[in-house]
Amino acid sequence: MTEGKRVVLGVTGGIAAYKAAELTRALVKKGVSVKVIMTGHAKEFISPLTFQVLSGNPVFSDMFSQEHYDMNHISLAEYGDVMVVAPATANIIGKMATGIADDLLSTVLLAAKAPIIVCPAMNDNMYTHGVVQENIARLKKHGVQFVAPGYGELACKTEGVGRLADIDDIVEAIESAWTDKDLRGERILITAGPTREPFDPVRFITNYSSGKMGYALATMAGRRGAEVILISGPSSLPVPRGITFISVASALEMRDAVMTHLEGTTAIIKAAAVADYRPAVLSESKIKKKKGPLTLHLERNPDIIAEIGAKKENRVLVGFAMESEDLVENARAKLLGKNMDLIVANDLHQSGAGFQYDTNIIKILDPQGGVEEVPLMDKMDIANRILDRVKILTNAKRS
Ligand code: PMT
Repeated sequence: MTEGKRVVLGVTGGIAAYKAAELTRALVKKGVSVKVIMTGHAKEFISPLTFQVLSGNPVFSDMFSQEHYDMNHISLAEYGDVMVVAPATANIIGKMATGIADDLLSTVLLAAKAPIIVCPAMNDNMYTHGVVQENIARLKKHGVQFVAPGYGELACKTEGVGRLADIDDIVEAIESAWTDKDLRGERILITAGPTREPFDPVRFITNYSSGKMGYALATMAGRRGAEVILISGPSSLPVPRGITFISVASALEMRDAVMTHLEGTTAIIKAAAVADYRPAVLSESKIKKKKGPLTLHLERNPDIIAEIGAKKENRVLVGFAMESEDLVENARAKLLGKNMDLIVANDLHQSGAGFQYDTNIIKILDPQGGVEEVPLMDKMDIANRILDRVKILTNAKRS
């Protein structure tokens, strides 16, 4: 996915140039090969040596250098799967918008065929200036992508919009740029995380779901071009970029959110670990400790996936099964009983699978009796395997 990809990173002269070092490090950590081009002004803010050490590659700056004669402006333009400019000053944006190529970076950008991502960072008066905004609009028309700057305290001690976007947002934009948009046109509703079933103002019943599996599905579906609605129970994970996010707590809230957003969806993937039962009574005040045991009466929660299965129309419905024994048999019974198109079974007792892990080991079952075994891999890769199956099914339902 990311391993083995190549980025050409242009660094221009602004105080945020030091954050480009952080970006280089984040990309290299993901297995990306980074070649940095610095403008003359960027070198006033940060040393080329910093980027050389972090990227493990020579740093380029001089258009006519004899030192790296094998890496001229054309080979650098062809090197990157994605070209990134971070931070991007008003100056480089202006040059790009008007086709000026008067140094190595602007020349490489003009010669590049790969997607270009520009991450502006500057004083807010400069950023909001009509000319800069016109240049940005013009570049967008030519397919250049922008990761907009954030609002906050700026180097010039004023507050405004102009801070370089978060490194995580820039990395996400890069990973999205080289991902094939094969799910464009799909509207996928995904549930994730646990539910919380309260019985007094301070206590609730829940489970160990972290949300990682569902968030990985939402991230990958978004990167692959789908319109994603993520309905999540309580989770500490960052919300994936570029998706619609709905936060819920209880199974009843999750059910209402799912039913509200069902219209227009082409696929539903239910990775959430929904509590089957909730306390029958919700005490308004904290239940006091008494001698002897406390008995809680539980009542059934709605079975959300069964409700969707009963009226799923042309949608693809994918469920998950977390089992502690008879994984395949139990998963198959749920698949058939609830009218699902696929069920993803994960085993509670397998190390590296299920709750909390960054990885999973799954079996994908279909109603025809097929079982696809997917070995231990990162939840992002697992998500892609599930989405590959979803894509086949949505295409089949359309034809
Ligand atoms: O979040 P992580 O830490 O990454 O962990 C991932 C996971 C283990 C939670 C995930 O991979 C998983 O297996 N999710 C489903 C767990 C589960 O609740 O399985 P189940 O067998 O109880 O439910 C079967 C299916 O019915 C699930 O798709 C569930 O979302 C759905 N369901 C269950 C109960 C209910 N009342 N309504 C439902 O829609």
